[in-house]
Amino acid sequence: MNYTISPSLLAANFADLKEQLTALKQAGIKHLHIDVMDGHFVPAISFGTPFVKNLKTQYDFFLDVHLMVSEPLKQIPQFIDAGADGLTLHVEAGSQEEILKALNLIKHSDLKAGISLKPATDIEALIPFKEQIDLILLMSVEPGAGGQKFMPDALTRAQKIRQLFPEVELQIDGGINNDTLKEAALSGATNFVAGTALLKGDIQKNIQRFKQILAEVK
Ligand code: DX5
Ligand code: ZN
Repeated sequence: MNYTISPSLLAANFADLKEQLTALKQAGIKHLHIDVMDGHFVPAISFGTPFVKNLKTQYDFFLDVHLMVSEPLKQIPQFIDAGADGLTLHVEAGSQEEILKALNLIKHSDLKAGISLKPATDIEALIPFKEQIDLILLMSVEPGAGGQKFMPDALTRAQKIRQLFPEVELQIDGGINNDTLKEAALSGATNFVAGTALLKGDIQKNIQRFKQILAEVK
């Protein structure tokens, strides 16, 4: 199985970013998960296009942008211009028509198109977008903050997604750590977002441990 480890920069120390990005690169990380929060879809505000642009210019990571924003259609062109490689929006962020339009815009720009759902949203809500999506981002915590506890219900939800979407890249986000990673993989997730578990402490050691756990699943 081809697994992807996607460190979430939300847990980074922003006064010291270079050192952390270098450690991630040295540990073999190729994807960065960038959590964009607008203070409306979720209460917090995080960062926006200038950050994505700087990362794109100075590093060569795949930039996986998770848009926790209320009006994704307004934001998407700006994130495409800034250099995002993948854009994931929330199914709860607009009407079916708006979401479809947004996903088509992402696809036509040759970016990876993702859709995310909150813990309380029915998985069936994703079915209308089956043709447009490359990735499903299953939230295993309520979106809006790092450092929350993994919701075990996400495991059965992951299995259900796997049945309905056998080919999709299934990303899981929230509370992924040394204790929850294996179960998430066994339930069908293939892409693992983790902030606290990877960015706090010794980054290289944290990544090595994740790799070991995933190697045992294969
Ligand atoms: C939460 C974000 C996550 C968050 C995960 O809204 O989508 O990506 O950074 O953080 P941890 O891994 O600490 O749960
Ligand atoms: Zn995220």
